[in-house]
Amino acid sequence: MTDKQNIYILAIESSCDDTSAAVMHNDKRLSNVVATQKIHEAYGGVVPELASRAHQQNIIPVVHQALANANIDKKLVSAIAFTRGPGLLGSLLVGTSFAKSLALGLDVPLIEVNHMQAHILAHFINEDDKRTPPFPFLALTISGGHTQIVLVKDYFDMEILGETLDDAVGEAFDKSAKMLGLPYPGGPLIDKYAASGNADAFPFPKPKVKDLNFSFSGLKTSILYFIQRETKKNPSFVEQNLNDICASIQFTIVSILMDKLKKAAKQTGIKHIAIGGGVSANSGIRKALNDAETTFGWTTYIPRFEYCTDNAAMIGIVGYLKYLNGNFSDQRIAAKARYVI
Ligand code: KG4
Ligand code: ZN
Repeated sequence: MTDKQNIYILAIESSCDDTSAAVMHNDKRLSNVVATQKIHEAYGGVVPELASRAHQQNIIPVVHQALANANIDKKLVSAIAFTRGPGLLGSLLVGTSFAKSLALGLDVPLIEVNHMQAHILAHFINEDDKRTPPFPFLALTISGGHTQIVLVKDYFDMEILGETLDDAVGEAFDKSAKMLGLPYPGGPLIDKYAASGNADAFPFPKPKVKDLNFSFSGLKTSILYFIQRETKKNPSFVEQNLNDICASIQFTIVSILMDKLKKAAKQTGIKHIAIGGGVSANSGIRKALNDAETTFGWTTYIPRFEYCTDNAAMIGIVGYLKYLNGNFSDQRIAAKARYVI
């Protein structure tokens, strides 16, 4: 029997192209191991079939490593938490089947976790140097598959106020990078080159989208036409202007996100604003949020880098919160590629 104050959650994340396992002791992270699949770099995007095969190869060593880093025996594990969705079905199936078998083998409860909720609840991982947002707060979840503004009323009471009508913001970064000849995932590279570029060098149009929704496909097309037009005049245009192009793209994307966040804050009167998801690693959005503390009087919550991109510690914190509520799943649970928060 597990003591309520001494809960160990083994968490597994396999929704896209990162295989990750983590061990939580209550709300503290003991380990968080991530194996990033390099195989997709050459393809300009995640190849689903290759991703699920790589998950199969990685999952056992990653789980072993997470237990070893946490320095605990698997007999101490109180429950297994896993990402049920949303994500790539083949990838989710690997983590789901593994988690189900392990829970059965260890005779411990199984806890399903929504990946997008986990990106938000990652803010509740207990880190001594971090504050946690009070309810209600607004969360901007920005990743390779999602772009949402979420009203978070409680841990498991969330409402999507707006989302993308087409591409996710991570895709906007990655596809722009691809047009510039950069490998996948290009988001971090755009961020890197942008650091030494001029954000005003090449103005790109911002889309006019109603309410709190987003659209990034028009921006993608205008970047494509811009690159085609300029390389016709000068074949070395991209090479010679890479930093400025990246800075301009990043500036435009960040201002699209900030415009909607400002609108959401105004509409709801909420000034506690959190970000989550892979794109929250971006230095442009991190700086904009930091600045918003003084400019708009917001209190902002920016995750540590390791909790921005896909990781199992965020699945583990949700596992812990659900464990406290006795919210367990049974062995009939199935992976869910589309899974709304
Ligand atoms: O949350 P995540 O790891 O996976 C999904 O659930 O999609 O997000 C991955 C996305 C990719 O599109 C990647 O390019 C983007 O996050 N990303 C970044 C940065 N770091 C990761 N985009 C811009 N700047 C970054 N520093
Ligand atoms: Zn994610």
